[in-house]
Amino acid sequence: SSVTIPPPACMLRPLEAPFRYLFGPGPSNVPPRILAAGGRPIIGHMHSEMFGIMNDIKKGIQYAFQTSNNMTLAMSGSGHTAMECAVFNIVEPGESVLVAINGIWGERVAEIAERMGMKLIIKIKPAHSFVILHILQALAKHKPVLFFLAHGESSSGLVHPVDGVGDICHKYNCLLLVDSVASLGAAPLLMDQQNIDILYTGSQKALNAPPGTAPISFSERACHKMFNRKTKPVSYLLDMTHLSNYWGNDGKPERKYHHTGPVSGFFALRESLAILAEMGLENSWSHHTEVAEYLWKGLEDLGLKLFIKDKDLRLPSVTTIAIPEGYDWKELLAYIMKHHQIEFTGGLGPSVGMVLRIGLMGYNCNKANAAMALAALEDALKQCRKSKA
Ligand code: GLV
Repeated sequence: SSVTIPPPACMLRPLEAPFRYLFGPGPSNVPPRILAAGGRPIIGHMHSEMFGIMNDIKKGIQYAFQTSNNMTLAMSGSGHTAMECAVFNIVEPGESVLVAINGIWGERVAEIAERMGMKLIIKIKPAHSFVILHILQALAKHKPVLFFLAHGESSSGLVHPVDGVGDICHKYNCLLLVDSVASLGAAPLLMDQQNIDILYTGSQKALNAPPGTAPISFSERACHKMFNRKTKPVSYLLDMTHLSNYWGNDGKPERKYHHTGPVSGFFALRESLAILAEMGLENSWSHHTEVAEYLWKGLEDLGLKLFIKDKDLRLPSVTTIAIPEGYDWKELLAYIMKHHQIEFTGGLGPSVGMVLRIGLMGYNCNKANAAMALAALEDALKQCRKSKA
């Protein structure tokens, strides 16, 4: 037997990845300290030192989420993995999920729930927030076991109020699942005080780690539901019975092999959580707000309209701009990428064709970068205007 397929020519060339200013909704640029942590020699995923690092990560997530939940860990995978993990572990066949859809993330959870057999939706237009009374009415009517709400809806640039939602969910014996992928570290969120049952985020936004790991935490109430299931979750990889053992959360004396966690990704995540702990959550929140306000003012000075009118509902990490009249949004983005090496993005899901998005998160979040983003946009607005004809 002999090899018939030759080595591909591309594999004989060195890897090329350009430097880009990642000022979109994520991933964000990774600071040298986190890159260096991720570049350390790897150790085995079952070594005692690795378990020590995982224990540190757990503590770092408990701080970032403001929770004392024991069932706190990082998923091997992006925010979507955590989203599926939450739904797969909590919901059993025949049960209902209520999903607040005001952008892409609600749509995604609805699709995941639908694939499992059941979904119920309350839907409003992108860029709007849900009124507590409507959530309450939907809970009373549909009696779901899980209610999903995106705290940071990055497709529309909206940060959703969470106060009071957990209380009404619990009144109807429902668990509250919150997505904070785009908001964690940028906008205030207090898992325990706000009675959130399941909270997850991603590594690649305000935490500035490379994409590929996703912190998640489950309340006692959520643990009670998921560890008293009659059926096994559909996913083996995402089964919390195994994951809780792998993370040393199940009280058993020994951690058993389940899957090989992303060792370098965990090193980087630990470093990013350490940076957040050093800075302090309150400082991180106020810093994001200050830079966002500077950006918003600059955008308005350029004559642009912010997509979220109500300042209190604007996500500090991802700003959405209504596409200005007389411009092709794709051309604007391409011009900015080509001439300024800056990534902004268009809309996502229901906001495609409606907005441009600028994200300044964590390490990227400073006034110098905001000024650079504004200058690039100003230049593009001059160069890309369509003729009236
Ligand atoms: C992804 O998270 C996005 O908002 O584009």
